[in-house]
Amino acid sequence: MAKQYYNGGSVTECLQRTETISKSYAAGTPLYFKAQLLQLDDFLKTGSESVTIVGLDGEEFEITRDSRNDVWQCRDGFVRRISVENFYSPRSALGISYTSNGSGFDYPLAGIQAEYATYQSNWLKSTPYQALQKILNSSLAKLDITNIIAFGLGSLRVGEHASRSHTQHAAVLTMASTIEKLMGRKVDCYVQDPSYNTVDAEFLNSKGITILEDPHGFLNTNSNTLVFSVCPNVPVKQIIADMTWPAAMIWDTVDTTEEQREWRTEVFDDGEAYRVSPYGTDPDSSRVREMVQHYDHLTFVDKDEQFTCLTVYTRKLPMLSETGIEMSVKL
Ligand SMILES: C[S@@+](CC[C@H](N)C(=O)[O-])C[C@H]1O[C@@H](n2cnc3c(N)ncnc32)[C@H](O)[C@@H]1O
Repeated sequence: MAKQYYNGGSVTECLQRTETISKSYAAGTPLYFKAQLLQLDDFLKTGSESVTIVGLDGEEFEITRDSRNDVWQCRDGFVRRISVENFYSPRSALGISYTSNGSGFDYPLAGIQAEYATYQSNWLKSTPYQALQKILNSSLAKLDITNIIAFGLGSLRVGEHASRSHTQHAAVLTMASTIEKLMGRKVDCYVQDPSYNTVDAEFLNSKGITILEDPHGFLNTNSNTLVFSVCPNVPVKQIIADMTWPAAMIWDTVDTTEEQREWRTEVFDDGEAYRVSPYGTDPDSSRVREMVQHYDHLTFVDKDEQFTCLTVYTRKLPMLSETGIEMSVKL
């Protein structure tokens, strides 16, 4: 009989557990792997009440369906966030977090089309666009890229807070057309973000971009993929580092050194004090740092602040998959 999903425990128990998991990670045990992503995906699609998965400590445990769910998201950049503070998800990298499908916004297609046209036109005239073009032209020619998979670019809005998402989607098409010119053939464009709604899907389809449901962006990433992500609320870097390494990544710049950060206490609007993690939702880890050593990198400076701080990583050497052997993390 599998244990129930652990939810709490004494400080000593949590410290022991986090130490076990840290050692296991340092020894090279993958936190994220295709079989488990497929198993969880299957669980949510088939409607079964619970699923048993192997925890990071090697023991099986059970996740029970939450009747409110309609879509799941990977959760927690586990390794950087590992701490006695992580009482709520101490055993698995793959939390299932329950959310509503779609962004909750209900903009008309015509509004999104008009907004996109404006932001795309601004993007194509911008200095960051020229800088990105230059980097792509100088670094991608050596690679065989057949598809782009982007994570967490956000639902397309109208009005306030619309610019980043529109500009980032326009950048996907810039990447595709640059690669198509370099390689002389078509590149397929995919995006994964649980916040897309049906209007986003219609609009993106019209631009030749296909939405993949979480976790199929991760599952479809292969050694010919260009992965693109900007501040995603999911640990894209850690998941990709544990699975098939892509041809290139354009994602939030990886810190080359591990810096010590502290949790802090903050009083929120409700007057309660909460412990706040110093780590973002797509944190680096030793494995992510090791992975990017195998890639050349050029930082993309974005003065217009539509992307925060991105680096273009391109594979240095032919990967094992090109010789017929599946490439995954080698530590
Ligand atoms: C902080 S927003 C960043 C949006 C945009 N890239 C930007 O820079 O303004 C994080 C995004 O990650 C998305 N996200 C959350 N879970 C995700 C998942 N499992 N796969 C892909 N995207 C996810 C959220 O829906 C949200 O759109």
